[in-house]
Amino acid sequence: MIATALEHNGATVYIVGRRLPVLEKAAKERSRYGRMLPLQGDITSRESLLVIVDIIRQRHGYIDLLVNNAGVAQGIIRKYDHQGDIRSLQDTLWNAASPQDFTDVFDANVTGVYYCTVAFLELLHDGNVRRSRTDPHHVTSQVITVSSVAAFRRDDRPYSIPYTLSKVASTHMSKMFANILKDWKIRSNVIAPGIFPSEMTNGLIPDSHVARDVPLQRAGKLEDIAGLTLFLASKAGSYVDGTVHITDGGRLSMFSSTY
Ligand SMILES: NC(=O)c1ccc[n+]([C@@H]2O[C@H](COP(=O)([O-])OP(=O)(O)OC[C@H]3O[C@@H](n4cnc5c(N)ncnc54)[C@H](OP(=O)(O)O)[C@@H]3O)[C@@H](O)[C@H]2O)c1
Repeated sequence: MIATALEHNGATVYIVGRRLPVLEKAAKERSRYGRMLPLQGDITSRESLLVIVDIIRQRHGYIDLLVNNAGVAQGIIRKYDHQGDIRSLQDTLWNAASPQDFTDVFDANVTGVYYCTVAFLELLHDGNVRRSRTDPHHVTSQVITVSSVAAFRRDDRPYSIPYTLSKVASTHMSKMFANILKDWKIRSNVIAPGIFPSEMTNGLIPDSHVARDVPLQRAGKLEDIAGLTLFLASKAGSYVDGTVHITDGGRLSMFSSTY
């Protein structure tokens, strides 16, 4: 959805994932101008990240925007009703997520976001240098990290403990990067979605009451995430830095949260 919004509005967009056929299918179905370009890569591998950066450096020499969108959800809790039985709760929490689930989720959602951001810093800076030559008031380069409203929930029905904790971490990391990168005028912002149809949520959420029960009574659509992304990438959003933007149809208001 994010790649579609950007490509349809004039950007050249590299989409990165581990499964090339999935990327090629997305580019074929979604691209309007032939500028959605698949690049096979694994954001949990620093070697792979360096290869991706090198390819884009050779083809373009810079980037304007990095979207840290790749993410995984494992260790999903499926049982919430324990009828006062502490052993039942204990069993659920012990078995829903293995230590490997924590590792895998953090590898992609936290460590991967960190190294992906660091790997692209020089190209983001080169984007700023390039634009400043022609426009002193240019829109500065930016990192958008896709977190989740899960990052703010403190109710007793988390979807996955490792997932929620990983999104807390990536949200905070983005705020830290806004500071770390300030001398280079590279901005860092967060988009925190609620429920959107995707491989991650298909079969789990969109058709169930969970999506319909949010105040706006529907799952998110392409336009919802597109509007926010285009705002942050445009001149209108160019003064926005170090912030978090929730798009969830009001879902977070249904939970006790830290937001
Ligand atoms: N959908 C929602 O309701 C929702 C809500 C809140 C937040 N989010 C967040 O939105 C982002 C996108 O998720 P989605 O819902 O679109 O899920 P999705 O359909 O499962 O997409 C996740 C994408 O990440 C890629 N990916 C996973 N691990 C990767 C790795 N190691 N290297 C490179 N790419 C990797 C996957 O491609 P490969 O498997 O081919 O690598 C896939 O394209 C995630 O960060 C997710 O946490 C989604």
